[in-house]
Amino acid sequence: MSATSKEFAPVSAAFAPEAIGRPVRLRGWVLRSRSSGGILFFVLRDRSGTVQVTGRRDALGDTAFDAAEHVQVEGSVEVEGTVAEDRRAPGGREVRASAVRVVDAGMPFPIFVEQTEEFRLDKRHLVVRSQEHVATFRVKAELLRAFREFFDREEVLEMTPPILSGNAAEGGAEAFQIDYFGRSGYLSQTAQLYLEALIFPNERVYALTPSFRAEKSRTPRHLTEFWNLEVELAWCDLEELLGFEERMVVSVAHAVAARRPNELRALGRPPEELTAIAAPFPRMKYAEAIDRLQAQGFPVRWGSDLGTAEERALTIEEKTPVFLTHFPKELKAFYMLRSPDDPRTVEAADLLAPEGYGEMIGGSSRETDVVRLTERLKETDAKVEEYEWYLDLRRHGSVPHAGFGLGVERMLRWLLRREHIRETTPFPRTPSRHTP
Ligand code: 4AD
Ligand code: MG
Repeated sequence: MSATSKEFAPVSAAFAPEAIGRPVRLRGWVLRSRSSGGILFFVLRDRSGTVQVTGRRDALGDTAFDAAEHVQVEGSVEVEGTVAEDRRAPGGREVRASAVRVVDAGMPFPIFVEQTEEFRLDKRHLVVRSQEHVATFRVKAELLRAFREFFDREEVLEMTPPILSGNAAEGGAEAFQIDYFGRSGYLSQTAQLYLEALIFPNERVYALTPSFRAEKSRTPRHLTEFWNLEVELAWCDLEELLGFEERMVVSVAHAVAARRPNELRALGRPPEELTAIAAPFPRMKYAEAIDRLQAQGFPVRWGSDLGTAEERALTIEEKTPVFLTHFPKELKAFYMLRSPDDPRTVEAADLLAPEGYGEMIGGSSRETDVVRLTERLKETDAKVEEYEWYLDLRRHGSVPHAGFGLGVERMLRWLLRREHIRETTPFPRTPSRHTP
């Protein structure tokens, strides 16, 4: 048997109705194995699923049998055999092997469920093979596909903004500074400013890029690197933006529920709960949130930043996401539009995930007035000269526009009911870890 010259079927092919009695050729990794009385049993895994394989010493021959017997958990093999019905095997089928070729017998696999979290994070490159991670990243891929399908339908064009930049867009303190050939540079915190430039030729744009935040926040919802899905729409006000966000969240939640129900169930999220998500989402002004939190005994007042605990209290009873709008301008970024009817607030809206999970989208209408933008930049201690190009956008056919950023891992944490955000990304970056 050779790895390249013959065709291999996916493991799932063994479960086709017509497969019984037919020869198959499979390849993959050994999930677990045992042998007794001259018969070897193992479960073979590939990307399509798992199947039980049995091999008899007399069918395989002594040399091949002995080699196959020494394959460790996660060792890789190729199998030739015949599909048979077997009531005792998972799924009622097994493959009776006529040949087993060991590709890599492997060393003893060092991962067990009961190991400490630190050890498992050190061995993340192996832990990503766990059933939990396989299910998680299949849902994540489906979520990203659903977003792209939604944007296609809504005629929003994908853009590729830079990750290296000469300015820190969301607030200098939380930017990772880098040495850019002797000049200061930053890892992107947001693609927003570039997307704003790109609405003038394209009107409706989005980008999916890594965003970096140098925050030493050790919370179950902060990463130092996450995937930011950002949308920017010309001729759009806050109300229209919220309508777009609602359609998007409902559409992708339903798509994921329809296409990955088994993975969702395995991770503890009944898909029906996602199918039940419907627009419109409740809207709450920041001022109302402060009143509610005070009534619950939180020591907050106008101007207080709402963190994990406050957002949790506001959403714990909800089943549907909630918009939190009209924050004091001091709490938000310089580019947000001042509310026409209240100079203390900005036309901003965060979308909070329900069940206590909290912020998953931050968005706003954008300030178009160059003078106000410059004032706000100065108030936030930014170097105004770094933003000259951005201010230029307000000097050449500026139009009302709005946009948002959605933290993909934040959304997934809610969809998959994960305790910690690091379980929604294969190689999490946190203040204490940037390896493996
Ligand atoms: O609210 P943020 O900081 O907004 C922006 O970056 C805007 N420029 C977006 C825009 O309008 N284009 O970040 C957007 C989202 C948050 O709502 C949150 O879901 C996620 O990104 N996020 C994080 N996710 C994981 N770890 C962190 N440290 C995050 N910081 C923000
Ligand atoms: Mg935010």
